[in-house]
Amino acid sequence: MAKEIVVSGIRPTGFLHLGNYFGALRNYVRMQHDYDCYFFVADWHSLTTHPDTSSLKESVHYVLAENIACGLDPEVACLYVQSDIPEIAELYLYLNMLAYKGELEKTATFKDKVRTQPQNVNAGLLTYPVLQAADIIVQRATKVPVGKDQEQHLEMARNFAERFNHRYGDVLVVPYTFNYGSELTKILSLDGTGKMSKSENQMATIYLADEDELIRKKIMKAKTDSGPTGKGVPKPDYIENLFTLMQLVSNYEVVAKFESDYKSCCIRYGDLKKQLAEDMVMFIKPIREKAAAIQNDKAYLSKIIKAGADKARENASETIKMVRKAVGLNYV
Ligand code: TRP
Repeated sequence: MAKEIVVSGIRPTGFLHLGNYFGALRNYVRMQHDYDCYFFVADWHSLTTHPDTSSLKESVHYVLAENIACGLDPEVACLYVQSDIPEIAELYLYLNMLAYKGELEKTATFKDKVRTQPQNVNAGLLTYPVLQAADIIVQRATKVPVGKDQEQHLEMARNFAERFNHRYGDVLVVPYTFNYGSELTKILSLDGTGKMSKSENQMATIYLADEDELIRKKIMKAKTDSGPTGKGVPKPDYIENLFTLMQLVSNYEVVAKFESDYKSCCIRYGDLKKQLAEDMVMFIKPIREKAAAIQNDKAYLSKIIKAGADKARENASETIKMVRKAVGLNYV
């Protein structure tokens, strides 16, 4: 039986951090063997907020390099760049006729952007969810591994697909978000102020591109306190976060030792951070070095980008053929 199709897009804006890696990328790496995966760099989407394209090429290459360095295998999953697939733009056009101005204006991410970039509220920003729906639907994906912040966009994608099917016949596959439930690991910012993110405090976000010394410095600066105030007192979230990171990058005995120190109230956070820093360096260093090597290997990157585009276009063009026929755009 054919495998279910998975689609996800990554915006080429900035370097990947630990939150991206443990929250999303690690799941993509797992999924690539179980599903027919299409992962792409959403360069068209980035134009809605980043009209300056002077560093776009480097960013697109870097995103691909990092994703491959983290374990996405271009021989297994289809890796491509959105703008290489004109079929997406064509489906976007049809779906735009089925998207209402009112519902687009009500979208949370749009309202957010109106607030944060009032000088550039362009139509592309308004129809961002339509383009995203086209990305997904054109590949006939059933599963879309995205976080909570994208659920509204997925609901809209389902609405557009269903409206299309209602008007033109049952052609489009209706997609759903896909989560590993409790397995989704949330990484907090090292200063204890919410989710790790690329826009907040740079010293509280660890990037996969960070050099060894910078990783050490960031971890040593992470927020702690004077230790547990009594036995059985639960860990504050910023301490829990350090343990979460440790579980992800340190070996079992190390975690067990610090857990037991915490329980018996003799934990020394300075020691924990030193250990975590070294284990984090060992974890990130090979990814960083591999990403840098791929970034410099332009011949390899070109090969990947071309092969990905061929495969993604082949699959997408089947959808477009059915769509054109259903809409009635066949004149010869
Ligand atoms: N909007 C997504 C984000 O901000 C990126 C994205 C674009 C995407 N197209 C997609 C995600 C299609 C999943 C499927 O992260």
